[in-house]
Parts: sequence; C-alpha cells; structure tokens
Amino acid sequence: MKGLVLSGGKGTRLRPITHTSAKQLVPVANKPILFYGLEAIAKSDIKEVGIVVGDTKNEIKSAVGDGSKFGLKITYIEQEAPLGLAHAVKISQDFLKDDDFVMYLGDNLIKDGIKTFVDKFREKKPNSQILLAKVPNPQQFGVAELKDGKVINLVEKPKQPKSDLALVGVYMFDKNIFEAVNNIKPSLRGELEITDAIQYLVNKKYNVLPHVITGWWKDTGKLEDMLEANRIILDTLEAENLGKVENSSMEGKVVLQKNSEIKNSTIRGPVIIGENCKIVNSYIGPFTSVYFNTIVENSEIEHSIVLENSKIKDVKRIEDSLIGQNVEILRSEKKPHAYRIMVGDSSRIEIA
Ligand code: G1P
Repeated sequence: MKGLVLSGGKGTRLRPITHTSAKQLVPVANKPILFYGLEAIAKSDIKEVGIVVGDTKNEIKSAVGDGSKFGLKITYIEQEAPLGLAHAVKISQDFLKDDDFVMYLGDNLIKDGIKTFVDKFREKKPNSQILLAKVPNPQQFGVAELKDGKVINLVEKPKQPKSDLALVGVYMFDKNIFEAVNNIKPSLRGELEITDAIQYLVNKKYNVLPHVITGWWKDTGKLEDMLEANRIILDTLEAENLGKVENSSMEGKVVLQKNSEIKNSTIRGPVIIGENCKIVNSYIGPFTSVYFNTIVENSEIEHSIVLENSKIKDVKRIEDSLIGQNVEILRSEKKPHAYRIMVGDSSRIEIA
C-alpha cells in the first residue's frame, strides 16, 4: 500500500500567515501539521509516499526532504494549479500504479493516527474506505448520507446537508478510483472533487465502506481550528526541561526546548517553548506554543501560537492569537500616543 499526501492549496483561510508559508507547515505544538500526517502514515506500515505539491513546493521539499527522518521514501508530484483533490489523484497515477493507497490531506490532524483504519481497509478489502465524523457545521465539508450502514449519497459543501457526517480528509482507495477521477466533471468551484469521485464509485456499485470515527479530528484551515489543535496536542505532551530556568515558576506541563531561557516569569502549562527562546518578566499561560528564536519580555500571552524569530515586548496581554514569523509587537513611548502598524494583507487586529 502507498500513501498520497496532498500539500498544495492556497490556505486562504489562514491569511496572512499563508502569504509567505505553506498552511501545512504551520506548527501545532511546535511541529508542522504535515509531520503528524506523515508520522501517522509511517505508523501504518506504509513506506512509499507521494506528496502532491503546488506553489509552496520548495518549502515543503526543504521541510520534509527525502522522507528518511520519518522512515518514508518520498516522491514529489507537482500539481500546476489547485484543480481539486480528484485532480491530484489523477496526476499521481504514474506514482500509484495499481497499488491500493491512503490519501491524506496535509492539513488534517487525527489525534489517534490512522493505523486502525488502514488495517481495517487491508482486512476488508473494499474498493474504498471513507472516514466520517459528526460535526456541528456540515455545510463546510463533504457530507455523506448513510442508509443501513451503506453510503448512498455524498455532496461537497451542501447548503442543506442531509446529515451531520463530514468526510474526514483521509481516504483509502484501490485502483478503481482512476476510473472515477477520469469520468467526473469539475464542480461549480472549478475543481475535480474527490467527493464526486466517491459518489461515482457508489453509483457504479463499487464497495465504498464508511467508517464513523469518534476520536478527535480537525481540518486546520482556520485560526480557531489551529488553536484547538494546539490545545489538544499540547495536552498530550510530557513535561521536559532542556533549557535554563531562573527565578521562575513552572506550573503544570511545560516543555522547554534546547537553549531557551526563562527568567523572572511564570509559565503555566500546557505550554511548549521552542529552541533559542528568551522569556523574561513575563507570563505564558495555558495552551500556548512559542516556536524557535522568539523573545517575550514584560508581556503576557495565553492560548496562542507564536512562530519563529518574533519579538513581543511590553505588551499587556495577548490571547487567542496566531503570530507569524519575524513579527515584532512592541510598546512605544513616542508622541503622539498612537497605534503604529505595519501589517500584511488579510491580517486581523483586535484592539482592547
Ligand atoms: C476537503 C474536501 C471535503 C472534506 C475536507 C476535510 O475540503 O473537499 O470533502 O470534508 O477536505 O478536511 P477543503 O478543506 O479542501 O475545502
């Protein structure tokens, strides 16, 4: 069995972060989201993985490399434009050949991995296995309708969903999926939808096995989802201190990575602080991840993700925020007293 990981797309819902970096590389608990998927595939005893890449291909390639650090052999497959998930399958036929494969959307995170589902697919040998999860907002997903445990109808982002069962971004297929992706037409949004390809399999009486998952799953397309994913994963970490702590209180589960320094501060876990960070006279509250080379001074942060090479100084309190790379948030004594902002396109700033 092979793996096919989709890591293209524009990440419009995570702008401005995705103006400069791939959405799949935004870290959750200081690890790029994509890496969780690759690790889950490796744990399912799959070795050969194709990664479909788009505009951000260089970044993805330099982060993942040849895959050896995951125990995988990676082949990169270039998609010239984001023409849909079924299009990604279509252009991967040379790589996939006649093998069964698991397709994994690179911005999806499944807390307990995928081994049980992959094993079930191997054992039952359906033509396809889809994972479904109950969600409160099915309009934002592909939605499946089941009858007597069988899939009867699948619709991509329906205005009036027939059920609350969303398609999770992990799918298993045998070679018959190529017949489907070669026969469907682009949707109204101009994409070849995998949802339509699976409906094609259902219509042609191929065996599509649904599996409703109950564990935690997230499609991390938006800020709130990123923060939720960060909360869930931070909660699973074990406390570890590889840095230097001086005159500070470390409460609950705190991971302090190499060469970081905490001084005159309170860190209340679950929190992860990356390599080469400096936290001085500050409070870092629960569910916060600080990536590497970041400085926090005389400030309070809680329930937030801060990326690398950033500097936060003399800021009263930051919450529920995603702060990008190389960002500076500072207090200024300059007159007149005013907010002076240089901020990227599609940013959002809430001021108290
Ligand atoms: C895609 C699929 C959708 C699925 C979702 C899961 O949507 O088209 O059917 O439910 O992934 O993450 P997208 O996130 O590309 O809009």
